Amino acid sequence: MRVVIIGGSGHVGTYLVPRLVAAGHAVIAISRGRREPYQPHAAWQSVQQIVADRDAEDAAGTFGARVRDLHPDVVIDMICFTLDSARQLVAALRGQIQHVLHCGTIWVHGPSVQVPTTEEQPRRPFGEYGIQKAAIEMYLLDEARRNSFPATILHPGHIVGPGWAPLNPAGHFNPQIFAQLARGEELALPNLGLETVHHVHADDVAQAFMQALAHRSGAIGESFHVVSPAALTLRGYAESIAAWFGQPARLRFLPWEEWRATVSAAEAAATWDHIAHSPNCSIAKAQRLLDYQPRYSSLQAVCESVEWQMTHA
Ligand SMILES: NC(=O)c1ccc[n+]([C@@H]2O[C@H](COP(=O)([O-])OP(=O)(O)OC[C@H]3O[C@@H](n4cnc5c(N)ncnc54)[C@H](OP(=O)(O)O)[C@@H]3O)[C@@H](O)[C@H]2O)c1
Repeated sequence: MRVVIIGGSGHVGTYLVPRLVAAGHAVIAISRGRREPYQPHAAWQSVQQIVADRDAEDAAGTFGARVRDLHPDVVIDMICFTLDSARQLVAALRGQIQHVLHCGTIWVHGPSVQVPTTEEQPRRPFGEYGIQKAAIEMYLLDEARRNSFPATILHPGHIVGPGWAPLNPAGHFNPQIFAQLARGEELALPNLGLETVHHVHADDVAQAFMQALAHRSGAIGESFHVVSPAALTLRGYAESIAAWFGQPARLRFLPWEEWRATVSAAEAAATWDHIAHSPNCSIAKAQRLLDYQPRYSSLQAVCESVEWQMTHA
């Protein structure tokens, strides 16, 4: 098939584009051309790359037509963040497309009620990003079910892979936390360290997109969590990483207000965002309908990423 991927050179595209090429698809990747994929791959030689700024073209109302005029069978939309942007794409592609796969996020869920959270649970998003993504999801599912627009939504967790810093056991992105645990130094965690994070390896996200393409009839009109088989508590995550480095975990627990004063404002904001969500999502639906079988546990995914950081620092 002719597959247009919007935003194909990032975390997911690095793995998804080679998979699409290997499966025999003709791949067209749209980006601003500002960055390279995290890992080089010969598959990129056969990819048609188109330079365009989606934000600017959405503002001008021309982006949807640009995508439609590439005559895709399938569109994979990695970078849709507003309802207006989603509406423009649907308006341009209606009746012209076999399948549209939208990349969402588990942030469409707010605080958990019953865990693991399933796709069926009511959305209670907070924060502009999650609210917009939940609105896009609701819109695309409505278009699929009412008007037969062929949309599928895939909701990744915290995407991890070699080439960028993983979400760490303190719930932020400072890689020094891993170095601290490697040296056997004390690490302070907020509250009891029992709030959760839910990672996924970027290649497993790519796998889920491929499976959704291959299981079109079960995928259309549905949304799916795309995470590792199990979430981690911050405490368990810290203990496991320390053990991986051959160290005992020396953990200290501080009430949130006290803990936040021990880190930068940006780190505190990132941790708050993660522990306020404390995601713990089920993959049962993706396993059942898409035969999604993640290759990585959360810890395996993080360790691969940390190993890369240690050899490339
Ligand atoms: N990162 C996470 O942990 C995470 C977790 C859950 C969900 N998600 C979802 O994953 C999706 C992002 O996927 P990703 O993490 O693979 O992407 P990414 O690493 O952020 O890469 C973004 C891609 O889009 C291109 N791009 C960015 N802005 C653009 C613009 N204005 N016009 C055209 N191209 C543009 C980038 O290339 P250029 O810079 O060269 O344009 C790149 O190819 C989002 O929908 C996000 O909500 C991410």
